[in-house]
Amino acid sequence: MKMSSKDIKIAPSILSADFSRLEAHAKEALDAGADWLHIDVMDGHFVPNITIGPLIVEALRNLKKATGTTLDVHLMIENPDRYIPDFVKAGADIITVHVETCPHLHRTVQLIHDLGVRAGVTLNPATPLVSLEEIIWYADLILIMSVNPGFGGQEYIPTSTRKVERLRQMLDAVKSKAWLEIDGGVKPANATEIVRAGADVLVAGSAVFKGNVKENILQLRESIEKAFP
Ligand code: DX5
Ligand code: ZN
Repeated sequence: MKMSSKDIKIAPSILSADFSRLEAHAKEALDAGADWLHIDVMDGHFVPNITIGPLIVEALRNLKKATGTTLDVHLMIENPDRYIPDFVKAGADIITVHVETCPHLHRTVQLIHDLGVRAGVTLNPATPLVSLEEIIWYADLILIMSVNPGFGGQEYIPTSTRKVERLRQMLDAVKSKAWLEIDGGVKPANATEIVRAGADVLVAGSAVFKGNVKENILQLRESIEKAFP
């Protein structure tokens, strides 16, 4: 159990940032109190959208050096093993893969660890938690998708909160210290219930980068604090 709201990390998804001034926009979020930067990699096959590759991770390296932030890379791509080394070289600190894309998930997690970074595992909204049962021991992070992956700005799927609750029980039962991250439709209006359910890393794209970034982070923080009466 997390002791204070300071243990909860906010990870802005750069997918909703202004790419013509990516570094400055991401810095605004970090300056306002965000913790990690979440980087959504999509291939147009596993998900119906194409976004960014290792070059963009590399472009955030100076900001990482200057701020000490964590580059949290979410791979929504088929055959992730083929690209993992490139993302590590580019500066990723955490690489998260989907159980749906990895027939040899244990091997993929091993590959990520062998390259010296943290390994995350994630699952689509309709994929049951039971698919994590054998990998939970090896993951540094488990990510619950609370929208169908592919786009920013979608509605939070309400049953995700219950999924977070059940995952928290699973992690506690095996004394796992893995981060429990949630991604999709996170807003000040639902951050309190999500943190109460046991999440400790909140990804937020549109809720951070649309409008006033400083004000947005402040509102997310306020909502997180409400989970700690
Ligand atoms: C969805 C991505 C999310 C998304 C979050 O496929 O993995 O990270 O960008 O964006 P919001 O917070 O706008 O739902
Ligand atoms: Zn994501």
